[in-house]
Amino acid sequence: MDMIFSGASSIRGEVEVPPDKSISHRAAILGALAEGKTTARPFLRSGDCLSTLSCLKDLGINWQLEGDVLSIEGRGPEGFEAPANALDAGNSATTLRFLAGVLAGRPFESVITGDESLRKRPMGRIIEPLRQMGAEIAGNEGTTKPPLTIKGGPLHGITYKMEVDSAQVKSAIMLAGLQAEGETTIRGGRSSRDHTERMLLLMGADLTFEDDVIKIRKSALSAGEISIPGDLSSASFLLAAAVLVPGSRLLLKNVGLNPARAGFLSVLNSMGALIVESNYQETDNEPRGDLEVAGAWLSGIELEGWRVPAMIDEVPLLAVIGCAARGTTTVCGAGELRVKESDRIAAICGELQKMGARIEELPDGFSVAGPVKLHAARVDSRGDHRIAMALAVAALCAQGETTISGWECVDISFPGFDQVLRNIAN
Ligand code: S3P
Repeated sequence: MDMIFSGASSIRGEVEVPPDKSISHRAAILGALAEGKTTARPFLRSGDCLSTLSCLKDLGINWQLEGDVLSIEGRGPEGFEAPANALDAGNSATTLRFLAGVLAGRPFESVITGDESLRKRPMGRIIEPLRQMGAEIAGNEGTTKPPLTIKGGPLHGITYKMEVDSAQVKSAIMLAGLQAEGETTIRGGRSSRDHTERMLLLMGADLTFEDDVIKIRKSALSAGEISIPGDLSSASFLLAAAVLVPGSRLLLKNVGLNPARAGFLSVLNSMGALIVESNYQETDNEPRGDLEVAGAWLSGIELEGWRVPAMIDEVPLLAVIGCAARGTTTVCGAGELRVKESDRIAAICGELQKMGARIEELPDGFSVAGPVKLHAARVDSRGDHRIAMALAVAALCAQGETTISGWECVDISFPGFDQVLRNIAN
């Protein structure tokens, strides 16, 4: 499906962004592992989170989603039943990797797969530690790609040194560690988002996380009420639009402000944007608040690898911002972007070039020279929701009408994004 956006003269208004995708996945999966009824609200009704719910249903878990209220009947890990067919995680690596961690400890065989994009993504990073813990896991035809066949059973704790700074990998190990005999220790990986650690603590898991070490022991989780803040990654597209279009002023309400997600805010501030936080509070172990932002003149920035995990999903958007900033914006150490829903480095560079951007691919990032006035073009989402939305922001800064093909993928994380943009763009 094509979507058309024209250049905007200002972005103005007040928006409540959709619920956090990462926290919604965790509420569903940890709620299923807990004993009793967990209620999570507002739960994100998006493609990825619905993939998690449908896999849980196939695993014998009962839940209801009424409006944006998810009620889930947890029966502990024993409540998971062998699925009749292969589980379909759709486009969602979070679903696949988290459930692999759970299924590693369950006494049955299951197969988990996904769409064409997910079947290309590397799973060796979870297969290796889960095998060390005692699970039998095989990828497709001798590879480490999905479909994964998982023969779960009794697990034992391990000490694992993380090779990639990935929240999905450490979460898969923690979910296996929750069912394993002895202690599971994870070293490294502390720069990636820590929603799983926070929610596990909220639900009473025997877990500590200090400096660069997470330790977890077998424990029962208690069910309860989980309140989910707005998604900072979804908010970032709107923030970026307001920063880039002169004369803008935008208020985003109730946005999750977990420091392990907030790298983009500090990068925008360093580039010269003024973002004001208010109404800061912490609910269910997660900070949240309102963000107010106005249009600004920006300067280029050099983003080093260590700052990448705290804004991993916003790096393609930084390429759009780099087009408008004075000087060069360079990102290095972001090679993980090549194995996301698309090769996000190739995708954002290739598509922005069509709009006149002076951007070059680097092996693990990109370099973009600005300021450049982008022009309208026909561009492609490459089936990746974050690329589609980053291109929409670029379109608002460009002269003329930009057509983005493959727009439907936006439903993966932000259903209704085009309408929200149209409501605030003048
Ligand atoms: C996610 C973790 C991130 C991120 C993804 C969601 C999560 O991946 O890119 O969109 O919910 O845990 P990593 O595994 O690279 O941290």
